[in-house]
Amino acid sequence: MKKYTDINDLENISKTIQEAIQLKKNPYVFENLGKHKTLVMLFFNSSLRTRLSTEKAAKHLGMQVMTLNVNDAWNIEFEDGTIMNLDKSEHVKEAAQVISQYADIIALRAFPTLTDKEKDTSEIVLKSFEKFATVPIINMESATAHPLQALADAITIEELKTKKRPKVVLSWAPHPKALPHAVANSFVNMMQEIDVDFSITHPKGYELNSEVTKNTSINYNQEEALKDADFVYVKNWSNYTDYGKVSNQDTHWMMTKKKLGNAKFMHCLPVRRNIVVEDAVLDSENSVVIQQANNRTFSAQIVLKKILENL
Ligand code: CP
Repeated sequence: MKKYTDINDLENISKTIQEAIQLKKNPYVFENLGKHKTLVMLFFNSSLRTRLSTEKAAKHLGMQVMTLNVNDAWNIEFEDGTIMNLDKSEHVKEAAQVISQYADIIALRAFPTLTDKEKDTSEIVLKSFEKFATVPIINMESATAHPLQALADAITIEELKTKKRPKVVLSWAPHPKALPHAVANSFVNMMQEIDVDFSITHPKGYELNSEVTKNTSINYNQEEALKDADFVYVKNWSNYTDYGKVSNQDTHWMMTKKKLGNAKFMHCLPVRRNIVVEDAVLDSENSVVIQQANNRTFSAQIVLKKILENL
């Protein structure tokens, strides 16, 4: 594999999920594959899980890891032809090439602005690194996609499903802050690719990008949508049409034990208790969020392994 910037970079998703489950049983089996190879992780934004699980995955493969919180370095310019007389000290053209001298693989996290839809959709940060770096790029959550999370989610569903084609529902939840669409987008992409009965429920007006949802079933009635679900993935995203706005904080959309029923509760974390989901769900055996977070290591590890094999 040459890069992992969205789930379509995986040649065979079902096979990759099975390979990740095997790696989980024996994480050090390829501990020499990454010997004398370095992963550089660039964080433009905060992280707990992505940072630690990706480092752990790289170390399982024998790699060395260097992490840069980019906001502690020089301010990077991404626009072409700019007269750099303001706060940006270094252009991505140099930065990406320089970092490539120190890295065999670059992984990066860069959230959207949520104010400039065109800029966010263009994925200027991720695409610039893809263009100017001379080593493979891994997306650790960009403006519109979080493919490592989606792979971990698919691994979790595969491990826990009790029927061949489980019913999976993505359910919007309220949140006080404007959140990106990346997790929801990649989860939708992933569910469209694996063998599940998938639908989305959210308030009217909270449609995700139609180029992502395509013909996925959308039900504005949460109770109806959740009926007989096997997995319920709860996630907030800000308004996509009225871009980046928090136009609904209806607490009725919070996930409760009653609404969840016997389904497994999924969330990428971090999660705001008693806003997005009530304590009774997170503290119950139906919650699989810790298993999901654990699987972040093995989604990163299978991706790193496939890239290392191609270096
Ligand atoms: N789910 C996830 O990406 O977590 P972090 O933001 O903590 O990395």
